[in-house]
Amino acid sequence: MNNLQDWPEPIVRVQSLSESCLDEVPNRYIKPPLERPSIKSSSSSSSFASDDDVNIPIVDLGGLYGKDDTLRASILGEISIACHDWGFFQVINHGIKPELLDRGREIWREFFHLPMEEKQNMQILQRPMKDYNKWPALPSNCREVIDEYGRQVVELCGRLMKVLSINLGLGERRLQDAFGGENIGACLRVNFYPKCPQPELTLGLSSHSDPGGMTLLLPDDQVTGLQVRRGNDWITVKPAPHAFIVNIGDQIQVLSNAIYRSVEHRVIVNSAKERVSLAFFYNPKGIPIEPLKELVTPERPSLYQAMTFDEYRLFIRTRGPKGKSQVESLKSPR
Ligand code: OGA
Ligand code: NI
Repeated sequence: MNNLQDWPEPIVRVQSLSESCLDEVPNRYIKPPLERPSIKSSSSSSSFASDDDVNIPIVDLGGLYGKDDTLRASILGEISIACHDWGFFQVINHGIKPELLDRGREIWREFFHLPMEEKQNMQILQRPMKDYNKWPALPSNCREVIDEYGRQVVELCGRLMKVLSINLGLGERRLQDAFGGENIGACLRVNFYPKCPQPELTLGLSSHSDPGGMTLLLPDDQVTGLQVRRGNDWITVKPAPHAFIVNIGDQIQVLSNAIYRSVEHRVIVNSAKERVSLAFFYNPKGIPIEPLKELVTPERPSLYQAMTFDEYRLFIRTRGPKGKSQVESLKSPR
């Protein structure tokens, strides 16, 4: 069956290794020179715009449901530009309470600090969200919080799907229907990146685009790490307080006939602090995904063949992390 652990690369358990306080990264985790991150020292001064000055767009969703039509149109416009130009943006005032975000994140942080035996007993990976028996029993209220978190994030994804659909010139339900309706495939992946003695030699997560529909990432509130590719540069995302980082996945690239594109990203680690992030994947389910007919024209012929998300996942699992080459290789011959 689908083994999320193998995507975009097999998960390696380096937490205990990190806790053993080695001062060098073992050879097997060292990346080839071209894949290593260029970690700039914060003291380097330059008159050129540095990575520190650049960020992915931040969109305030506050006025999306208000009475002010001009404001609403400008929010839609900002999201449209962000989807076209970046494939990544942050949303603030998204309607999910900061307390729920903080509790959700801290529960998972606690989970990673449980003794290894307890974490292993709790076979939570690869299980459906709703299989409560498989959820960690500790900390005590985690099920309620994670359940509520999942419910609210699904709802926010539904609202964003409508915005994307309208921005693509379609009816507001069109994209959701193309995902297979309300019964979507949702999956929460919690990432824990331990401290690393030589962050310049390795990566927390190799470059990849997300294979699914859309991802809502709740980043760590204290440590940055996510980098988004922009041309030949890697932009470090500076999260706004209590923002979600939204990104387009390969399935929306296919449905939109590459009007929107999934964008490569990766995670760098650091020697001072561990990092936790919650990646919520909002995916189509059971339905063949191909460019929407409204978006296929003589000038813009269909770029992709139909494939269900499960078929696509099988296809990419055989190929390992390859940045965006997966979705690119799907293009139909023309
Ligand atoms: C992912 C991902 C980024 C992060 O899980 O697909 O890109 O910041 N995570 O952890
Ligand atoms: Ni990702």
